[in-house]
Amino acid sequence: MEQDEWDELKAAAVEVMGHAYAPYSRYAVGAAARVDDGRTVVGCNVENAAYGVVLCAECGLVSQLHATGGGRLTHFVCVNGDGEVIMPCGRCRQLLFEHGGRDLLLWTVSGIRPMAEVLPDAFGPDDLAKTAATTAATTATTTEESK
Ligand code: THU
Repeated sequence: MEQDEWDELKAAAVEVMGHAYAPYSRYAVGAAARVDDGRTVVGCNVENAAYGVVLCAECGLVSQLHATGGGRLTHFVCVNGDGEVIMPCGRCRQLLFEHGGRDLLLWTVSGIRPMAEVLPDAFGPDDLAKTAATTAATTATTTEESK
């Protein structure tokens, strides 16, 4: 993606940041991502009087991803209330990894970087798939032996 497209994505993040509901932290966040079919999805943070119930901007973005047809995230950026690029929090890196994998490109505070660098050696869907396959094989063997 060329820099002008990254700038457009960041502009979408800045726009949605304006809709953040952050009366407790007063720290607005906007996030925007490109999907593999070319659409753009966005989200803003939504806080709660029960402080721990906060929804990060990325939560809204991922919800919009699925609500509008699913797909894989390919490019991502999030900004603070001053429109500066910020890093997604640890939990949201995991959230983004689920929907974009190692190759998702993020505009970070140190430039454009793949998720493989932003969340190295991530735990993800493949780990569960491997265990499920091993469990299925073990169960099959055990069942066969008990006949
Ligand atoms: N926040 C996000 O929305 N995304 C992040 O990745 C970092 C943190 C929000 C949560 C909370 O509403 C505010 O920023 C301050 O932590």
